Amino acid sequence: MSELSVNHLLGIKYLTLKDIDLIFKTADHFKEVINRPIKKVPSLRDITIANLFFEDSTRTRLSFELAEKRLSADVVNFSAASSSVKKGETLIDTVNNILAMKVDMVVMRHPNPGAGIFLSKHVDASIINAGDGTHEHPTQALLDSYSIRERLGEVKGKKVLIVGDILHSRVALSNIFALKLQGAEIKVCGPKTLIPKYIESLGVTVETNLIKALEWCDVANMLRVQNERMEISYFPSTREYTQQFGLNKQILDSLKKEIIVMHPGPINRGVEITSDVADSKQAIILDQVQNGVAIRMAAIYLLASKIKR
Ligand code: NCD
Repeated sequence: MSELSVNHLLGIKYLTLKDIDLIFKTADHFKEVINRPIKKVPSLRDITIANLFFEDSTRTRLSFELAEKRLSADVVNFSAASSSVKKGETLIDTVNNILAMKVDMVVMRHPNPGAGIFLSKHVDASIINAGDGTHEHPTQALLDSYSIRERLGEVKGKKVLIVGDILHSRVALSNIFALKLQGAEIKVCGPKTLIPKYIESLGVTVETNLIKALEWCDVANMLRVQNERMEISYFPSTREYTQQFGLNKQILDSLKKEIIVMHPGPINRGVEITSDVADSKQAIILDQVQNGVAIRMAAIYLLASKIKR
């Protein structure tokens, strides 16, 4: 039976194309399961998973918890806001305490890039990175590619545009790694100040004119401006950002081909996309959310099967 090449899901950077194919194939099965009247399978009845969220999250956290429960795992939740982290406990101590309670897997979101990698070297549990600062968000990139594959048949050869705050976005970086591995063409678009200088070295092209970029693509992934990660102003005003990089229905309808619109959420309606775009037939934002559960079930299931006991 095939298995993942990794024991942890720390970033797309560490995965192979075979890993991605295996996760997608497993997710196809779980997608069928979650559409049944009884949405639960007993696969992980003997596994305990801790969700450690040191940073805010709604979608990702709910999605992981649902995925774990649908696999029948035991689940414990922890959020930094209501924990001893506030009392000065270190990350390792917090986690060791949790592991002393015999946890097999940790799903962690943390504001520091590399937090998951650090943890995987120090604790004896399988680690899933649910977003580490501006670094990676592997399950988001997997569910994004899976949603493209579902709508367009395959990812290979597709032209994917990522718009917005590329500099601070872990979603952008993980998507670039995932899409490249699968043979998509990638372009990024946004204010020059929010596009890192090294981006072209990742095999990505840059276009600062939104209309030109949209005319090129099959898929546009519209990112949220990560205001919480900005200590300085990267553009004059939100109004100006929206005028140059916001997607509205008029622009969408004026394009020569029918593109697909994606967004990782949370959406700032009227900033990066207008409500009529978010709610249009071309938007697959809620498909992304639904696929997120199946993708996370697949990742957890495949990693759990590698845990040695
Ligand atoms: C993203 C995140 O937190 O990285 N959201 C998510 O996981 N659904 C993107 C964002 O916050 O803009």
